[in-house]
Amino acid sequence: MAHKRAWWERGIIYQIYPRSFKDSDGNGIGDLRGIYEKLDYLQWLGVDAVWISPVYPSPMKDFGYDVSNYTDIDPIFGTMADFHALEDEIHRRSLKLIMDFVPNHTSDQHPWFIESRSSRDNPKRDWYIWCDPAPEGGPPNNWLSNFGGSAWTFDERTGQYYYHSFLPEQPDVNWRNPDLMHAMFDVLRFWLDRGVDGFRVDVIYHIVKDEHFRDNPPNPDYQPGENPYHEFLSTYTADRPEVHDIIAGMREVLDAYRDRVLIGEIYLPLERLVAYYGASGRGTHLPFNFQLIQLPWHAQVIREAIDNYEAALPEYGWPNWVLGNHDKPRLASRVGPAQARIAAMLLLTLRGTPTLYYGDEIGMHNVPIPPEKVQDPFEKNVPGMGLGRDPARTPMQWDATEHAGFSQVEPWLPVGKDYRTVNVEVERNDPHSMLTLYHELIALRRREPALAVGSYSSVPAPHELLAYRRQHGNRQLMIVLNFGHNPHGFEYSSSLGRGTIVLSTHLDRQGEAVHGRLSLRGDEGVVIQINAPQ
Ligand code: GLC
Repeated sequence: MAHKRAWWERGIIYQIYPRSFKDSDGNGIGDLRGIYEKLDYLQWLGVDAVWISPVYPSPMKDFGYDVSNYTDIDPIFGTMADFHALEDEIHRRSLKLIMDFVPNHTSDQHPWFIESRSSRDNPKRDWYIWCDPAPEGGPPNNWLSNFGGSAWTFDERTGQYYYHSFLPEQPDVNWRNPDLMHAMFDVLRFWLDRGVDGFRVDVIYHIVKDEHFRDNPPNPDYQPGENPYHEFLSTYTADRPEVHDIIAGMREVLDAYRDRVLIGEIYLPLERLVAYYGASGRGTHLPFNFQLIQLPWHAQVIREAIDNYEAALPEYGWPNWVLGNHDKPRLASRVGPAQARIAAMLLLTLRGTPTLYYGDEIGMHNVPIPPEKVQDPFEKNVPGMGLGRDPARTPMQWDATEHAGFSQVEPWLPVGKDYRTVNVEVERNDPHSMLTLYHELIALRRREPALAVGSYSSVPAPHELLAYRRQHGNRQLMIVLNFGHNPHGFEYSSSLGRGTIVLSTHLDRQGEAVHGRLSLRGDEGVVIQINAPQ
């Protein structure tokens, strides 16, 4: 018997970018009550857990990822009472709530930073990363901000530079300082005591920097015209060995409570990524695996990535897969609308916790943002390179009414032009829509332990196809996905036992018997139930 899996192993996570999910109070910005109003939808969709991007008080320079108070709710999103109401209702429906924890940096308006910058001998001076100018003047070293320019900003009053991995308004804290560390652990406890089920930890791999402030080496693969941040490798600014002790500390805080999950936002190559499970499971439960977002969309590339990932996981490490988030272009724009269906079937039939990004389930695309409507500081600082994240953060398209049913007024970002046809209401009533496909896939994953917790094995397939088997006890499923736009044949081995299609991405072949050669249409994927040989 497989041991009973935790909720975050069996479950499906749905990410909400709260500014854009549902506006309940008519200011054009989504809020907690808006999310509350849409819980029926999330429950119908069948997801298990909701991760909400930051809703804490913030000057919103980076839309909530610049936190000025870790233990309250920003008025834009509502009140602490709204938070409790939402959390209670989420739990009443047997769903889980995952909060965003942003421990790498605060807002420059956080009282900790205001104190820290007030004088060199302030007790909180060392809670942030301060450095003298280089001997010849200028920033202490060559470290760059992810959002463009130097990562160092000079502070006139005290004559030193402070470090910020992102905006100057997002100073990095100093995790080497034990008081800061304990204050951050208390933040976790604050929310755990209020019953949240876990955290997605923002840029967890960035939180410790080299204590000697060594220059980062140049990136030999850098091509002019690329994101300027990548001109140097982040050897001394990310993925430092000391980070794992700190994560073990976070894990210890969580482990004092029942059944909570720690998820890490980590953009690193596979061999580094899996280190974030920690030695003997003292790390994050789920180091986010972004390979499906980053890799070229080819069957063989994806097959290899899955096999390598499966092989690299530590024996106690539970896999996970992510298809989209608030920092990356929309799935349907990356791979095209037809292949977005293949991606959905892949995500929801792979071994490991799936994370969905709001709006992908209805096939929302990147929405072009006219220059005067740009909000994202990344786009403002490094313009015209397609790095801006606004296109993937536009309002959820609920129905065909004005502003897509998101708000009564013009929203903070434009609504996709396709909202009259690409929306929840229309797609719920269309038996062949993307939303119906997601609904069916999620329902299938929920009722099939072979999908939720079963083993994975790769099956050889011709080059544009990806095939694999999932098995739990005597329950066996085979998944065959056509990554090409042309029809393809797949030799289904009858020695496996009779097969029956339980789901096609085209939502029209359910019940079809499979023996011998299986014909797949272009962009079609199928889930086949293998009936044990008689
Ligand atoms: C993470 C977030 C991103 C944010 C950055 C700085 O990468 O996902 O949205 O801008 O951290 O907090």
